[in-house]
Amino acid sequence: MSGFALQVENLVKVYESRGRAPVRAVDGLSFEVKRGQIFGLLGPNGAGKTTTLKVLNTLIRPTSGRASVLGYDVVAQPLEVRRRISVVIQESAAELFLSTLDNLLTFARFHSVPVAEANRRAEKVMDLFHLREEAARKVQDLSGGFRRRVQVAKVFMVNTPIVFMDEFSTGMDPILKRAVMNYLREEAARGRTIVLTTQILSEAEELCDDILIMNKGKQVARGDLHALKLLSEGVYDVSLTFEKLPAAIEQHLAALAPRRMRVTGNTVEFSVKADEARVLALVAELATRERVLRVEVSGASLEDIFVELMK
Ligand SMILES: Nc1ncnc2c1ncn2[C@@H]1O[C@H](COP(=O)(O)OP(=O)(O)OP(=O)(O)O)[C@@H](O)[C@H]1O
Ligand SMILES: [Mg+2]
Repeated sequence: MSGFALQVENLVKVYESRGRAPVRAVDGLSFEVKRGQIFGLLGPNGAGKTTTLKVLNTLIRPTSGRASVLGYDVVAQPLEVRRRISVVIQESAAELFLSTLDNLLTFARFHSVPVAEANRRAEKVMDLFHLREEAARKVQDLSGGFRRRVQVAKVFMVNTPIVFMDEFSTGMDPILKRAVMNYLREEAARGRTIVLTTQILSEAEELCDDILIMNKGKQVARGDLHALKLLSEGVYDVSLTFEKLPAAIEQHLAALAPRRMRVTGNTVEFSVKADEARVLALVAELATRERVLRVEVSGASLEDIFVELMK
C-alpha cells in the first residue's frame, strides 16, 4: 500500500457554467501528505480549498491531473476511497428526522462498526461534544450550532484512516473547539490522517504538522510551521501598552510601513519587517516618550506569513 495518505499531481478543476467564463478553481496543484499527519489547507475565500477537498472525497471529478487516497485513485477507484474516509464538508448533512443518538449510531453502522463498539463510542462522543441532553431530540429541532456538532461528532464514531474537515471549527464555541482540537491530536497520534481547511490561522498554527497555503488554485507555500516562518523572517509583532498614549504615535509608526497597526486604548500593536536591532531600538525610543507598562515582541505569526504571501 502507498506510504502516503494523499497524493495529488498536477490537479486541475475548471468549473464550466453556461454564459459565464470558466473558473479555474484548482490550477495545477501537486502535493503529498504523509500518514498520521494533521494537514492544513489554507487560503483566502475562493482559493480552491473546498474544491480540492471535494476531488479527494470523490464528490467531483477533476478536469485533469491525478489524485489518490491511500494509493487509490479518486476517479478509477472511488469506492475504495470512500471506504477509507470520513468527511465533514462545509454544507455537511445530518439526518434531520433522526435523533442525535440515532444519527451517531446509524453513521457507525453504515461504516460497519460493531454495535457494542458503536454504543461505547456514542457515549464518549456525546460527552466530548456536550450532546448528552440532546441525545433523544430530532436534529431538525436543534439550533444551528448543535446541528453542526452532530455533523462533526459523526466522524468520531468511525475509524476511517483519513478524516477530512472543511472549515472544521465553524459554529463551534471556544470550549468545544478546544476539546475537538485535542481529540484530533489524539487521533493523529494513533495514526489517523486529518486533513482540514481553515481560514483561522491561529487554529492551523496550533494544530497542523504540515501546511499548504494556496491562492487562486495554486500553491503559494508549503511546509511545517517552522519552515513557513522562515519565509517571513524578520517580521516582528510588537505590542506596547503605555501609561498614556504618546502624541502622534500613529504617524510615527506609519513611517515604518507596518504590515498592520492597531491602537486600542493605550495599547499599540503593530507588525513590521525589520532587523531585530532596529525593532528593539524603536521600542526603546518609544519608551522615552511615555512610560511603558508592558512590552511584547514576538516573531511572525502564521497570519503575518499569510499576509506576506498573498501580496
Ligand atoms: N459549483 C461551482 N460552479 C462554479 N464555480 C464554482 C463552483 N464551486 C466553486 N466555484 C468557484 O471556484 C473557486 C474556488 O472555490 P472553493 O469553494 O474551492 O474555494 P475555497 O477556498 O473553499 O473558499 P472558501 O474559503 O470561501 O470556502 C471560486 O472562485 C468559486 O466561486
Ligand atoms: Mg471552502
